[in-house]
Amino acid sequence: MRIAIIGTGYVGLVSGACFSDFGHDVVCVDKDASKIDALLKGVMPIFEPGLDQLVERNVRQGRLSFTTELAEGVKGAEAIFIAVGTPSRRGDGHADLSYVYGAAREIAEALDGPAVVVTKSTVPVGTGDEVERILREVAPDAEVSVCSNPEFLREGAAIEDFKRPDRIVMGVEDGRAEEVMRDVYRPLYLNRAPLLFTSRRTAELIKYAANAFLATKITFINEIADLCEEVGADVQDVSRGIGLDNRIGPKFLHAGPGYGGSCFPKDTLALLKTAEDYQSPVRIVEAVVKVNDARKRAMGRKVIKALGEEPRGKTVALLGLAFKPNTDDMRDAPSIAIFQALEDAGVNVRGYDPESVEQARPLMPGMTFCDTPYAAAEGADAVVLVTEWDVLRALDLKRLKAVMAGDELVDLRNIYTPQEVTGAGFQWQGVGKPMRGRTGSIEVADRSPVSA
Ligand code: UDX
Repeated sequence: MRIAIIGTGYVGLVSGACFSDFGHDVVCVDKDASKIDALLKGVMPIFEPGLDQLVERNVRQGRLSFTTELAEGVKGAEAIFIAVGTPSRRGDGHADLSYVYGAAREIAEALDGPAVVVTKSTVPVGTGDEVERILREVAPDAEVSVCSNPEFLREGAAIEDFKRPDRIVMGVEDGRAEEVMRDVYRPLYLNRAPLLFTSRRTAELIKYAANAFLATKITFINEIADLCEEVGADVQDVSRGIGLDNRIGPKFLHAGPGYGGSCFPKDTLALLKTAEDYQSPVRIVEAVVKVNDARKRAMGRKVIKALGEEPRGKTVALLGLAFKPNTDDMRDAPSIAIFQALEDAGVNVRGYDPESVEQARPLMPGMTFCDTPYAAAEGADAVVLVTEWDVLRALDLKRLKAVMAGDELVDLRNIYTPQEVTGAGFQWQGVGKPMRGRTGSIEVADRSPVSA
């Protein structure tokens, strides 16, 4: 099957590479000539584990190609995916749909046969209707359907998420769209991925509801972590204790410095705007957004407090800057708010990240960037673990301590136990963890039949 993907950002590129790996014939289109040039040379515009090999293999085998010419890419395509950006509109938080509608218009002008136009970009409810209206206005005679097919890819695990999804949601309004989408995802159906066909508006809302729910889960456990600190309980044990309840589930219950990234902050805001437009408030999500924003700043204050009476002139090393591991993405990363709070308090900030330094540099102009965690810790009064990269999970804590001027370690991801950290000579602070006390353990009763 021939597929065109408009937009070679995160979603478009991963989807295009994976579809071609399933055997489809895929053309990825992007207006940005420098991006396409780089891709043609095998240089990826984003850091995503495994993506470069996947692209290289499929290009070599002739199933994946790149072009700046939309009309050329769309020629003969049965499914045309719109995967362009939907940034938050400046000022009001609404998703900016100008790229989506622009792509729809250009597709309509280029259509040369029956096709299904699929919105993969995260778009507010009703966007599919507008895309359909544009297509019919520009190409009244075209045989075209519109489908909403939201993505649920996590950065850093996007290929795995694409190939082994929990579900595939497809919002369709006619039988032909359903038939084409079944063909698109047939390889995954053989992998037993559940295919969920809904109305188009429902599919659009599922994406926002899923992200808002996950953001709520994280924010819930973050507030419980604060409460744990006050009452002397351990949030990791609370997470386990509630997560073992199948109705709750163990995932997205890791307390930390607040969620960031390209999706949760933007999608929760866009959901609030939709709710406002329809005068149907989602008050829980309103609270989640407020609490998460405040949390990032509060983490900065937590670090400043650890520096003692006079933080001005002291030095802090931030280890891990990206909003999460295995990505170079700095969008809404908690490290930014922490850096700003520290700078405002007159603290010198050094930083280390294995991948995101180039992205971080313009966002944190006053920071001294270092090549290793140990170099960042040199002369520091405190080190702060901000992102749980693998390379930060097995630090030589004694070596780290030895190069520092002070002895504070603030572990915002609860990577280390207080015993390990204090054993290496540090003063320790985690998130929602008591200094002392029993750590939980799980025992499973032997269920073998009791012999008589
Ligand atoms: C998310 C969704 O998971 C994905 O389905 C969607 O389509 C895009 O948005 P992503 O933003 O890549 O993916 O990252 P994710 O792994 O979901 O983490 C988001 C943020 O939540 C990160 O800042 C992470 O550190 C934080 N988080 C996540 C926690 O603080 N605690 C958790 O338990 C889980």
